[in-house]
Amino acid sequence: MAIDVTAVKKDFPIFDQEVGGKRLVFLDSAASSQKPRAVLDAMDGYYSTTHANVHRGVYAIAEEATRLYELARRRVGAFVGADDPAEVIFTKNVTESFNLIAYSWGRANLGRGDVVVLSSMEHHANLVPWLQLAEERGIVLRYLGLTDDGRLDTSELERELDGARLVSITACSNVLGTLTPVREVADAAHAAGALVAVDGAQLVPHVPTEVGALGADFFGFTGHKMLGPTGIGVLWARRELLEAMPPFLGGGEMISDVRTDGFSPAELPWKFEAGTPPIAEALGLAAAVEYLEKLGMDAVREHEKALSAYAIASLTERFGDDIKIHGPLDAGSRGGLISFAFKGIHPHDLSQVLDEHGVCVRAGHHCAKPLMRHLGVAATARASWSVYNDEPDIDALGDALVDADRIFS
Ligand code: ALA
Repeated sequence: MAIDVTAVKKDFPIFDQEVGGKRLVFLDSAASSQKPRAVLDAMDGYYSTTHANVHRGVYAIAEEATRLYELARRRVGAFVGADDPAEVIFTKNVTESFNLIAYSWGRANLGRGDVVVLSSMEHHANLVPWLQLAEERGIVLRYLGLTDDGRLDTSELERELDGARLVSITACSNVLGTLTPVREVADAAHAAGALVAVDGAQLVPHVPTEVGALGADFFGFTGHKMLGPTGIGVLWARRELLEAMPPFLGGGEMISDVRTDGFSPAELPWKFEAGTPPIAEALGLAAAVEYLEKLGMDAVREHEKALSAYAIASLTERFGDDIKIHGPLDAGSRGGLISFAFKGIHPHDLSQVLDEHGVCVRAGHHCAKPLMRHLGVAATARASWSVYNDEPDIDALGDALVDADRIFS
């Protein structure tokens, strides 16, 4: 194993307990991952010793808080190959990152008839902001389709990108697990004169990521899925785009001057960070990044790919046609999750029975309703992994499915 899961688990206090008398088998990291002690300590340490607002006070702890917050920005940016801190905007989550793109860049650049290309496997975070612009401005949305095995269909890319202003796609589906060919799409989009926005929420926690190598112009990811706290996400974008974009939210911190008849925005990145930012969360996210770097993202990817391969092979061997795993069946084409249907049992019922075994999975539409319609289902069950999962966790999922079959058949 590329990761010593027994050692890793000891770093996560949540695994010290049993839930309902059972070992906690946490297979819902795609919704939100667990947090190592290093992240909790970073946040607690800040609140216990250094708490003050940033970019305001000129006393010692305020200056230290500002130093740590800006250091966190550098560390988090460097984790995805973004070395210019002016290009790293702290947001609340990926949803806010994409709303920022749509409200600021979209409203400044898009009008009636302008085409934005999405895919049929987008999370609502990368759908609803564009649907809002379609209603408000009359922009036109075009959707890249899927192949039968749940990959992004790029066979008609040139035609589909013709005349597009922006292509906005996920790097890894939160439902199918599919890794999309972002670079191929980005190259084609740029050749067609379009910009490229990438949803990295399910990529960054699992796969070594370089925004430059992906060819992205905008890139969003979130802290709570990558061992960090909730309440903090990132929007990275190329400096010249951000410089030309108007501020998103207005208020304190994002200005250089305010008069009764107007205001001048602050420099990047603060122009896009109105109000008191998520300071403890930034420090927690920097600690999460350090934790992942110590494990090594190549090792993380290798570990999770092996778990995906094991899950697909072992569940198929145990249940044959009774389990339908959505998306590509080779682990190399996936991130760290599988969505599945099992013997016609409703995913919510399934999830409840699994919970009695201490096995946590997500059931539902996963904020991807158009994809659910494409798959012809109302919901799926989804098991997802992180650095603290191992093969016995997958076996526990399989054992719990046997029990669900016993109960419902
Ligand atoms: N977007 C998160 C998920 O896929 C919440 O579960």
